[in-house]
Amino acid sequence: MVEIKNLTKFYGSHPAVQDISFTVGDREVLGFLGPNGAGKSTTMNMITGCLPSTSGTVLVDGYDIAKDPMEVKRRIGYLPELPPVYPEMRVKEYLTFAAALKGVARGDRRKQVATAMERLNITDVQKRVIGNLSKGYRQRVGFAMALLGNPKFLILDEPTVGLDPKQVMEVRRLIQDLAKDHTVIFSTHILAEVTAVCERVVIINKGQIRAVDTIANLSRSMGGDVTLSLKVEGEMTKATGIIRSVPGVKEITEASYEDGGVRFIISAESEDVRKPLVSKLIAQDCMVLEIAAESSSLEDVFVRLTSPDRTKSREEAFEELGRKLEADRAEELAAQTAPGSGEEDA
Ligand SMILES: Nc1ncnc2c1ncn2[C@@H]1O[C@H](COP(=O)(O)OP(=O)(O)OP(=O)(O)O)[C@@H](O)[C@H]1O
Ligand SMILES: [Mg+2]
Repeated sequence: MVEIKNLTKFYGSHPAVQDISFTVGDREVLGFLGPNGAGKSTTMNMITGCLPSTSGTVLVDGYDIAKDPMEVKRRIGYLPELPPVYPEMRVKEYLTFAAALKGVARGDRRKQVATAMERLNITDVQKRVIGNLSKGYRQRVGFAMALLGNPKFLILDEPTVGLDPKQVMEVRRLIQDLAKDHTVIFSTHILAEVTAVCERVVIINKGQIRAVDTIANLSRSMGGDVTLSLKVEGEMTKATGIIRSVPGVKEITEASYEDGGVRFIISAESEDVRKPLVSKLIAQDCMVLEIAAESSSLEDVFVRLTSPDRTKSREEAFEELGRKLEADRAEELAAQTAPGSGEEDA
């Protein structure tokens, strides 16, 4: 178990992470979701002992990172935002070296390196110089390194950044596979990523936690409906009657004839409505040609939680979030170029 209590980090006078607390249970995959600059990497660097906190504690299986850093580091595999790979080394050579550094017994190194390369699909490039690899491959080498020593906890900072869509799918599948015998905390600013991979999510913005909950609860608590797009064969009036009779269907917002059938846009209480909806239509001889969830209310939740005014509409909130991120970036750039700025751990 990982327990984070009142963790805080100041860079000079800038509070990058403020008083955050949450726990992660064994074999859980926790998504750490927040926009750019939210404090995700800072938090992960503190959890893994790469960065000292200003205050607060991190306990990993009961060991305090400040008091027993070696015990904690032995249990953690970390993929930082910028994997610390040596560009002049070859992939297999580097991983073997990293395995030695991580204390993997000499007799186990070859096997562990081979397994990690296989899991990340980089066996083909094992003899290549890391500096010549594409970004996606370098990312996977860093991920393979995190697996060495078979640590119980994996902390992955934006593991899918820089990967092509096929690799993104592979890495998401890998995370789910690893979760069978690991505890995983991974960060992302992509909402679809958490819904695809994990059950529970911590939403962070401007260094503060906005929500810690299951994805299902978050969607529900915001009272968000889902929009379903449905295409059926046959006649509009009959299908309309059936759709309206399904519990959980709130309203039909659009109905129009489309080649070979009728397209309905439906507002429903949750995606769970899909199953009874399809069963009922089929039972009454209305062939279902297509059904898809158009928008998930979780996106609204994310935007609302990371936007200061929670009553704003989604579009307004998105725009405002974008403006704020830009302003923050500008502020950040100004701070970085100003002499005597708060950079202390660059
Ligand atoms: N070494 C540093 N010195 C000063 N300020 C820093 C330093 N590292 C990060 N910060 C600031 O702390 C805040 C949080 O940064 P952090 O990198 O943790 O965010 P993040 O959520 O990982 O963002 P991203 O999605 O862009 O990776 C930002 O405002 C950032 O500018
Ligand atoms: Mg980051």
